[in-house]
Amino acid sequence: MPDSSGPELKTAPLPYTDEVKAKTDHLYPRVAKLIPEIEWRTMAPYIAAINDLKKEKNAVILAHNYMTPEIFYCVGDFAGDSLQLAKEAAKSDADIIVQAGVHFMAETSKILCPDKTVLIPDPKAGCSLAASLTGADVRLLKQKYPGVPVVTYVNTTADVKAETDICCTSSNAVEVVEYAAAEFGTDTVILIPDQYLARNVAAMTDIKIVTWAGACEVHERFTAEDIREIREGNPGVIVLAHPECPPDVLAEADFAGSTSGMSNYVKDNQPKNVVLITECSMSDNVALENPNVNFVRPCNLCPYMKMISLPKILRSLQTMEHEVLIDPEIIEKARSPIERMIALPLKRQSMYTHQHAPEVFALEARAS
Ligand code: 13P
Ligand code: SF4
Repeated sequence: MPDSSGPELKTAPLPYTDEVKAKTDHLYPRVAKLIPEIEWRTMAPYIAAINDLKKEKNAVILAHNYMTPEIFYCVGDFAGDSLQLAKEAAKSDADIIVQAGVHFMAETSKILCPDKTVLIPDPKAGCSLAASLTGADVRLLKQKYPGVPVVTYVNTTADVKAETDICCTSSNAVEVVEYAAAEFGTDTVILIPDQYLARNVAAMTDIKIVTWAGACEVHERFTAEDIREIREGNPGVIVLAHPECPPDVLAEADFAGSTSGMSNYVKDNQPKNVVLITECSMSDNVALENPNVNFVRPCNLCPYMKMISLPKILRSLQTMEHEVLIDPEIIEKARSPIERMIALPLKRQSMYTHQHAPEVFALEARAS
């Protein structure tokens, strides 16, 4: 199958043989509604080879909800949102973890499993949020706001996590902020680096929030006007949005939650027509499990998530590239904020229903 992302992968496509067919026929029904047979024949040889190598090497693939369906349904051993993948990594007994997601997710796996080999099929699979903030930035913030707990979104580098009190994901951000304020006895929490997630959390709590001028380049492109147009063109459509979207977008939505929160909403409510205001592969993956729901499709692609492909996953398992390596001292410091988050007994996913005007106490940015 074609892969345009690097000269190193310009190899001849693998053939679709009888052996490949025998190894993959049982998987095709999972994606048949979306992937035509002719395309499947270009994917199946990679799927067969990846699944063989996983067994041979005792490897698991952790697939984020934004992976394309052939990865999500046919080679992923565990699929989910950032929090679920971190939990799976923490309890995995595989020797090798292949992260079908972006680099910060692979770092999280390595921090939780320092003795395992963690591979990222393309090391350039970054994230605009993770790129917006450094460990040095966090140290400066701590000087400026002494005694204020630092909550960082998991979409950050290991260096940033090493400066953090407790991590959060979109599925638990409200509860983690309230927990951090109670633990530290403060009325203010630093929640970085996503200014929109911070504003959306601020709308749900009385805790004052200091945030950072970071944003997800995929979700910040959605506007409230987009949502109004979608509603006009699709009367009765249910609008679900990710909390990395700006607050005025969430104010127009029927529900906002993490990637798995949106997926569960569709599963539980079976709306007739739905639109997921998030990355494009989400709708594909959720649609395959909910055949009676019609998906309205405006969406934005995450260029980093889309760097992960079947040929790159195969190559990663064959060559053991690209291994995620982190300074052991940073691992040591970065592990406790992630483990603290995982250990929190949260009863439900964070909701973002905009209870009051979304205020933040301060929006900080890099000085230079
Ligand atoms: P989730 O934690 O909701 O899976 O989000 C991760 C992400 O990168 C969304 O853009
Ligand atoms: Fe980062 Fe946004 Fe891509 Fe998620 S969708 S990985 S937050 S750039």
